[in-house]
Amino acid sequence: MKCVSYNDYRRLAKKRLPAPIFHYIDGAADDEWSYRNNTSAFDKYTLSPSYLNNMSQVNMETTVLGRKITSPLILSPTGMNRLFHHQKEFAVCKTAHKLGIGYALSTLGNISIEDMAEINSGLNIFQIYIHKERSLTHEFVKRCKTAGIDALCLTVDTVVAGNREKDIRTGLTMPPRFPLQTIANFISRPSWLFNYLKHPDFGLANISNKKEVLRNAGPMGLLNYINGQFDRSVTWDDVAALIKLWDGPFIIKGLQTAADALRARDIGANAIMISNHGGRQLDSTPAPIDCVRPIRKAIGHDLELIVDGGVRRGTHLIKALALGADAVSFGRPYLFALAARGQKGVEAYLSAFVNEVERNLTLLGCNDVNTLSSDYLFMED
Ligand code: GLV
Repeated sequence: MKCVSYNDYRRLAKKRLPAPIFHYIDGAADDEWSYRNNTSAFDKYTLSPSYLNNMSQVNMETTVLGRKITSPLILSPTGMNRLFHHQKEFAVCKTAHKLGIGYALSTLGNISIEDMAEINSGLNIFQIYIHKERSLTHEFVKRCKTAGIDALCLTVDTVVAGNREKDIRTGLTMPPRFPLQTIANFISRPSWLFNYLKHPDFGLANISNKKEVLRNAGPMGLLNYINGQFDRSVTWDDVAALIKLWDGPFIIKGLQTAADALRARDIGANAIMISNHGGRQLDSTPAPIDCVRPIRKAIGHDLELIVDGGVRRGTHLIKALALGADAVSFGRPYLFALAARGQKGVEAYLSAFVNEVERNLTLLGCNDVNTLSSDYLFMED
């Protein structure tokens, strides 16, 4: 099957993955309204092209969190990539390195902080949740410092797990188990099953001391893990203390309002990922793209803004930057490419995405991604 777009990779991933695992990537919370709206909200904005501008060169390079990246794109942190392909996060991190884009590893990833640092010499970010066991957070900070990680990213929208009804229906477990009622889903995907048996390396590389807790978390293991291990009592004061302890570039992921962005700035964060967790946490939250303008207006240039959610097209990246963002990030697109074709799929998908941005900038008449502004957005008089 020839894959030229996000939808093609999604379709191929659906063919390759056992249904519970496909739906884990593809699903979201409650009615999945935010998930759908994250992408469709981009349609509200239209572009205003300008022609005859000598478009023989287009610059896509930019600086985020003090590091140069070849285009304003960061791969969002996503957990347990081993579920989707046996090349797991290695495939994704290696591609980020090859293309010179940013990479964020999840606390719940299957490769370690040290693996990431060794593979990617570009922008490396480690994403954390604050666990009840605070010493774990301190250990992450220490390991990231030693490994030379560029930035820490704290996810704040996962105080409890969102209501992912698809996962409840499919009875997904982490790592996968094969109870009688779901075994047919796995047997019908023999190449996934073969690789599952050949490479049974599902360990959460950064929280190996929690392996047992996850294994014993029962059906819906991950969501039970989140509900049992993450600290619900976290406040801005805890984040301020963490920023102090880390003493380096710090991102807060999951904010959506100008008021929270101002608090993030006041406690010393450097960037926020405007995100509703791909619609996987609180449903009925606004699309990240719709939050850019009010947040930028409130904070001026005190924080870098990364739009995380719904980005599927080169024009989406362009619209985000024209509205005031510094970069975009996404998770599902590279996960579907990984599930479809492993590292080859991730490379092909991301290269095509970056080429699409470049082609669209050329057609728009903008020869430097850093000069995108509302001048490139169509406004009715
Ligand atoms: C974990 O962060 C998830 O969204 O499943």
